[in-house]
Amino acid sequence: MAQQADQFKKVISHAKEYGFVFPSSEIYDGLSAVYDYGQNGAALKKNIRDYWWKAMVQLNENIVGIDSAIFMHPTIWKASGHVDAFNDPLIDNKVSKKRYRADVLVEDYVAKIEAKIEKEVAKAAKRFGEAFDEVQFKSTNPRVLEYQKKADTILKRLGQSLEKEDLSDVKALIEELEISCPESGSRDWTEVKQFNLMFGTKLGASAESAMDLYLRPETAQGIFVNFLNVQKTGRMKLPFGIAQTGKAFRNEIVARQFIFRMREFEQMEMQFFIPPGTQKEWYAHWKENRLKWHLALGMGANNYRFHDHEKLAHYADAAADIEFRFPFGFKELEGIHSRTDFDLASHEKYTGKKLQYFDPERNENYVPYVVETSIGLDRMFLAVLSHALTEETLDDGTLRTVLKLPPALAPTKVAVLPLVKKDGLPEYARKIVADLKWNLETAYDEKDAVGRRYRRQDALGTPYCVTVDHQSLEDQTVTLRERDSMQQERVAVDDLKKLIVDKVALISLLKKL
Ligand code: GAP
Repeated sequence: MAQQADQFKKVISHAKEYGFVFPSSEIYDGLSAVYDYGQNGAALKKNIRDYWWKAMVQLNENIVGIDSAIFMHPTIWKASGHVDAFNDPLIDNKVSKKRYRADVLVEDYVAKIEAKIEKEVAKAAKRFGEAFDEVQFKSTNPRVLEYQKKADTILKRLGQSLEKEDLSDVKALIEELEISCPESGSRDWTEVKQFNLMFGTKLGASAESAMDLYLRPETAQGIFVNFLNVQKTGRMKLPFGIAQTGKAFRNEIVARQFIFRMREFEQMEMQFFIPPGTQKEWYAHWKENRLKWHLALGMGANNYRFHDHEKLAHYADAAADIEFRFPFGFKELEGIHSRTDFDLASHEKYTGKKLQYFDPERNENYVPYVVETSIGLDRMFLAVLSHALTEETLDDGTLRTVLKLPPALAPTKVAVLPLVKKDGLPEYARKIVADLKWNLETAYDEKDAVGRRYRRQDALGTPYCVTVDHQSLEDQTVTLRERDSMQQERVAVDDLKKLIVDKVALISLLKKL
């Protein structure tokens, strides 16, 4: 646990030191759970967004992308159920006066049990060596089984109590588990209450005529209300999808864990419109498809798992999370939801307008069903960044910090470094930059000794460094250094593009899908 917390602290400070993520409004002492992306963070975020967009929109001829407004008619949020049901159960500690999400307190308790399981697994793996079978161990070891049973029972009860809106049972569970306030250690809790997460704002010039609006808490509704616009103008036939990426806002009670839970964040969502009755097969399809998208990044299959929901949101008939092993344990990264016809049918009801599709094969009109995939871009960014941050002890005993980002996502693909700042080397290096920049995000760096420049590029996650030396001027060759292996080879300047482009292009990821 302490090691995990330590790793997480390193991720946060690395993100700041190397221009990935800054606390928002920092010179005014910051704004809780709001963050800005710096020069490298914005580039990494854009590359993740592009990977998602191309995988969804470019590779699927039946998925199109839109960009709807953040401000939307307020009745939309009534129809979507957010006004009445987009609540989190909150609880206050009477001693510390700190406010918590009651479900998160219980989930954190369960995470501790899961950490114990992981510890048992690690111990056994060490003991048995190569012969160790993790699946068999987990399904037979009595201590692990006991922990697992306890965790499952708690989560089941939490799910059922939330489902039934039985908030007094959620409090009872917290008391039975003897969960204390992380700040004060006290177990003196208030009742559990519901708290709506939407931010309100106003539209209009005068106080009297202003209209109350909400900042959208999800991008999905912008897709639903444009369903007919897109279907008709794009002459789309079911099944088809509409994708979009954009900001969403939630007044999270417990906003913490850096960019994992923010008040302003970005979502990448896709609504897949299907004939009623086919939702089971499409739900399975999108679960598999989305996991494949994650696995193509090469961040380790054992770092992902599905979590099927016990408690379903007001709109869903099935839902699962893809969870990722963050530095603070397995947590939700993406949701796949079978949303039935809830949203379109509800917008029909509130607007009095038909949101239906004529199915020529069935020869009937109906409200389509929807399977949604929804991932937080910032959360994905955190998954990528935290997995990539590595510390290695080199043969000479020195420590190397390297960001082992999937090359296609790296903010800078290649850095060109003149060995010294004289003898025409900078000019030659600049010429290489001028040539590479059309195909690759290219940096130029001439400050400090070349070893320090390599370290800096390692810390930024740059997959390749090109070093220009005196020999380069004579035979037009340079040293090409690869980030992870640190191997260097002498290559012709004319071959650089060919050697680098294929390995760092998004297409290398997309081809795996
Ligand atoms: N349209 C469905 C929907 O919004 P959700 O499970 O509430 O579903 C989807 O959110 C994804 O958005 C989550 O899996 C997570 O990655 C991201 N997300 C949700 N709340 C977030 C927050 N406060 N900060 C960062 N990401 C968040």
